[in-house]
Amino acid sequence: MYSHQITSDPVSTFRIQLFDMICALSTALDLLDPALGSHQKRTCLIAAQIARSMNIDDASYQDVFGAAIFHDIGAIGLADRLAMLEFEETDAHTHARLGAMLLSRFPGFSRYAPLVRCHHVHWDHGKGFFHENQGVPMLSHLLYLADRIEVLAQGKDNILGEAPEIVAQIQQLSGSKFHPVYVEAFSKLAQQESFWLDIFSNNLDRILMDIAPFDNIDLDLDQMLQFAQFFALVIDSRSHFTATHSAGVAITAETIASHLGMSALECTKIRMAGYLHDLGKLAIPSEYIERHGSLTPKEMARVRSHSYLTLDILSAIKGLEDVAEWAACHHERIDGSGYPYHRTGAELSLGARIMAVADVYTALTEDRPYRAGMAPLAVVRNLDELVQQGKLDHIVVAALKQHLPQIEAARIHAQEQEGLDLNDFWQLAIQAVNPMTQPMFE
Ligand SMILES: [Fe+2]
Ligand SMILES: [Fe+2]
Ligand SMILES: [Fe+2]
Repeated sequence: MYSHQITSDPVSTFRIQLFDMICALSTALDLLDPALGSHQKRTCLIAAQIARSMNIDDASYQDVFGAAIFHDIGAIGLADRLAMLEFEETDAHTHARLGAMLLSRFPGFSRYAPLVRCHHVHWDHGKGFFHENQGVPMLSHLLYLADRIEVLAQGKDNILGEAPEIVAQIQQLSGSKFHPVYVEAFSKLAQQESFWLDIFSNNLDRILMDIAPFDNIDLDLDQMLQFAQFFALVIDSRSHFTATHSAGVAITAETIASHLGMSALECTKIRMAGYLHDLGKLAIPSEYIERHGSLTPKEMARVRSHSYLTLDILSAIKGLEDVAEWAACHHERIDGSGYPYHRTGAELSLGARIMAVADVYTALTEDRPYRAGMAPLAVVRNLDELVQQGKLDHIVVAALKQHLPQIEAARIHAQEQEGLDLNDFWQLAIQAVNPMTQPMFE
């Protein structure tokens, strides 16, 4: 599913650090609920510091760091239906299971899935060795402890003043909820003021980077593409209404780019931009995205922030500048009527123009639960009108029209594939939230 061959272009110029990608994804997930702040990153820092103080081996350290920074990734499908902190209490294991399902779909992250699946299992005086008839990785208990410490520490404006109370609360639950070995390591560490102050530092990303086990690991192009595809799965997992949209835009943009003579490297990058273009939508209530009727002007204004937020997140990834720019410009129009920059004509790169056409084309042709996709001839009429109005690039639209059957077949195939990937996730998510509801895609 994730294979992609690159035959030309020196890829040595294309270097992306794994840490940058992981950090950006964690930032994107935090958009779901601003009240949650950097919960995952802070939990990661707490877990990592406890692990370091215990001198655990390198492989275990990488496991706990990677699992902690994404531990609530499964809450995406539930976030709009349950308050973010409520999900921890009502059925904690559901989001943990969903998170493990998502992570196991990406080869680079599948190693974190077992820890995430068990991150709310109580130690329960040793019964926490097993959960749902399976063994529980020991480090899940560290992750659970770190998560609870973060929740207790959240929002405290005098963290050093509150720290003794937090330590006492945790110690009281040693053996019942938490593994005593980890509580002991935490109790020692908690005596350092820096432990608490680091958690709430404005330089949290830098502190994490300094202790990250994958600092200076570069991703190759194929891994990069897999990563972007994983982002798309996460974005699309949130809504049935625009499900698989990112995959459709990605393949459409890549195919148009190849017919316009872009290099193999650029084609791959534009495919990434397609996967990532709606990343900022994680900050938009899914109720807006799923509404059949029109949005109020204020709601619409909020939706228009999403492509800017896409750039905001991606710009933190060094080496991905052009991908970030193309992705962020998918709502720009040649006559300046687009957003968020209102760029005109020559200010828009070829990549940005392709993204705009691929986004409109995919939105028109894909099926939504409330309507079938438009037939190719009607789509062509729509695109021609937008060219005449000076909104879309005529060369890009001409390339799309010339290769329409190939592009349409590729788009349908890519979206069907992603639909299959999302299906298990949705079935579990929907039934977990409302057992009476039937999954929409079977
Ligand atoms: Fe959780
Ligand atoms: Fe959490
Ligand atoms: Fe968009």
